[in-house]
Amino acid sequence: MKHQTTFHFQGKTAVVTGGASGIGLACAERLSAAGAAVILLDIRQDAAERAASALPGAEGFAADVCKEDSLTRVRDRILSVHKTIDFLVNCAGVGDIEWAEDMTPATWRKVIDINLTGTFLAAQCFGKQMIAQKTGGKIVNLASQAGVVAIDKHVAYSASKAGILALTRALAYEWGKYGIQVNAVSPTATKTPLIEGYWDVEPRLSQTLAALPAGRYCRPEEVADAVLFLCSSSADMITGANLMIDGGYTIH
Ligand SMILES: NC(=O)c1ccc[n+]([C@@H]2O[C@H](COP(=O)([O-])OP(=O)(O)OC[C@H]3O[C@@H](n4cnc5c(N)ncnc54)[C@H](O)[C@@H]3O)[C@@H](O)[C@H]2O)c1
Repeated sequence: MKHQTTFHFQGKTAVVTGGASGIGLACAERLSAAGAAVILLDIRQDAAERAASALPGAEGFAADVCKEDSLTRVRDRILSVHKTIDFLVNCAGVGDIEWAEDMTPATWRKVIDINLTGTFLAAQCFGKQMIAQKTGGKIVNLASQAGVVAIDKHVAYSASKAGILALTRALAYEWGKYGIQVNAVSPTATKTPLIEGYWDVEPRLSQTLAALPAGRYCRPEEVADAVLFLCSSSADMITGANLMIDGGYTIH
């Protein structure tokens, strides 16, 4: 059945990092269906361009969220066409997992660099534009249930996501005066390439589903719906918040 949107984002420009896959792609699809001009950024240029070509008015560009010059170059390209950047959805992320005692410094640094530093650099790059344009904006950061509770093999990932929650509060606090709301969403395991080989493997799959009040994993579109709500004017009074989309994973 075709998705009926409840949001109206005509005239808005939305940037989605990690937009070529999974949750980022679902956010891009929903934002586009609501009328926003969507810019998909991803480290995989082909995948970003391919994903954008399926969405009316969307564009896809290569950008590495760990590299400031890569982000500013893309921001300048966007602003040569669009007057404002109204929404930023920070979905770029990796899920490299390992027992803490075996985790190499290189893996730790990679996860922190992409998930946490990358979220900050993208927020700073596009947040500066939101400040300059004087019409404010909305930033939604992808955190995780792993930023709230401990999960086997997730030491670096958990630290990166808990960092995103603190970063979200800090930016919301500093940028409220510019009319910018900054929030996080924290999904449970969501059916994307990120969870393959961990959450979809027995006996973890059956054990997790048995303990999960929702009884199933999340769908990317369900995360996107929460993201769109946080981008909407219905959420103007919500900032610095962390919205759990975890089917109850963290309530017991
Ligand atoms: N899938 C889940 O279960 C789940 C649960 C909670 C939170 N999250 C978070 O949601 C976000 C999206 O995850 P997903 O499940 O859609 O994963 P995904 O692997 O489907 O998509 C992640 C995208 O990020 C891109 N990317 C990676 N490094 C990048 C970089 N340096 N610069 C730009 N793009 C980069 C990848 O190319 C990919 O397209 C991540 O932050 C993830 O941690 C996912």
